[in-house]
Amino acid sequence: MTKTEGMQAFQDAFGAEPTDLFTAAGRINVIGEHIDYCGGKVFPAALNLRCNIYARKTGGKTVRLAFRGIDGVVELCVDTLDAYRELKIGNYQAGVAYYLQETGVEIVGCDLYYDCTVPFGSGLSSSAAIEVATAVAFCEYAGVAYDKVQLALISQRAENKYAGVNCGIMDQFASAMGKKDHAVLLDCSDLSYEYVPLRLGEYALVVANCNKPHNLVESKYNVRRQEVETALKTLQTKADVKCLAEISPKLFNELKYLLSGVVAKRAEHVVMECDRVSKAVAALKTGDLVELGRLLNESHYSLRDLYEVTGKELDALTAFARKEPSCLGSRMIGAGFGGCTISIVKKTETEGFIRRVGKAYHDAIGYKASFYETSIEDGITVEKL
Ligand code: GLA
Repeated sequence: MTKTEGMQAFQDAFGAEPTDLFTAAGRINVIGEHIDYCGGKVFPAALNLRCNIYARKTGGKTVRLAFRGIDGVVELCVDTLDAYRELKIGNYQAGVAYYLQETGVEIVGCDLYYDCTVPFGSGLSSSAAIEVATAVAFCEYAGVAYDKVQLALISQRAENKYAGVNCGIMDQFASAMGKKDHAVLLDCSDLSYEYVPLRLGEYALVVANCNKPHNLVESKYNVRRQEVETALKTLQTKADVKCLAEISPKLFNELKYLLSGVVAKRAEHVVMECDRVSKAVAALKTGDLVELGRLLNESHYSLRDLYEVTGKELDALTAFARKEPSCLGSRMIGAGFGGCTISIVKKTETEGFIRRVGKAYHDAIGYKASFYETSIEDGITVEKL
């Protein structure tokens, strides 16, 4: 949808012209999966796929929401923001408004039209993009200065406590704080961060969606969180650590006798994935893309064998990618169980890569994968129309 089309869609939904365009980004994660809620360092980057909100302040107590591709308007009353938890559409917005209000931000009536180009359920964080962009709109209309990191935290709270998904901070942070052509090395134990140029030279990151139909990601995700919490409690009986990410591979080897079964496997993934992030960042900084690709592959194998969040679709898509001589590495990203992969592919070969991997995947799985044209962009943008 072009900007003109977005403005027209707003006009059709609300009978007036929008005055502002607020956007926040979807994200990829280069490496560091399922460790943000263990105090690990993650390495996401914000995408050109975004939640775009065409908006107008109306004043009063009603927030009206309209969505591209969905008929009708959802109305939220700012006096009863606790009442929308069961909404299928609009609950993220209500949650963000609710927690902003809790921090003292006055939620002012407005009309918001959503054109979200982050595919839903893709593992590219459409929900974080919606939450963060909505938080920006509410703060702008309340006339309060906002800190982007605070908006990310409020958005995460909305997702945890209002929508009931116990996610970490990675997605909302990337959506708010992403920087063009950079990945963000975010330390989730204290939210300190560093921007690292995502310089891939002759290579490009190809993002592919395995298109597995919806499969209860949220409940399986919450189970993984409980498993690593169990691991941490057990390891804390012998080690003075606040989070699993503080445990080095060496210390883990000494203590792993304390753990068994899936809990041991989950903890091993976390410890080794943290180690891979440091190595991957070093490899990127020195331009060693072969090593970076190898670490991406290792990350996928660990998510497959130890964390068990991949599934045959993501395994097939990454395996076909790795068979291509032009591909240095490939892995699933996000929560898993479905959704997207990233692959490092020689720029001049991406067309053939997409064609061959797409065909092999279709033949093996029975339906098509989607490939996206992506670029790395800023997190939040605010524009007067
Ligand atoms: C989802 C969550 C994130 C993170 C990833 C896995 O995207 O929202 O907080 O845990 O899964 O790395």
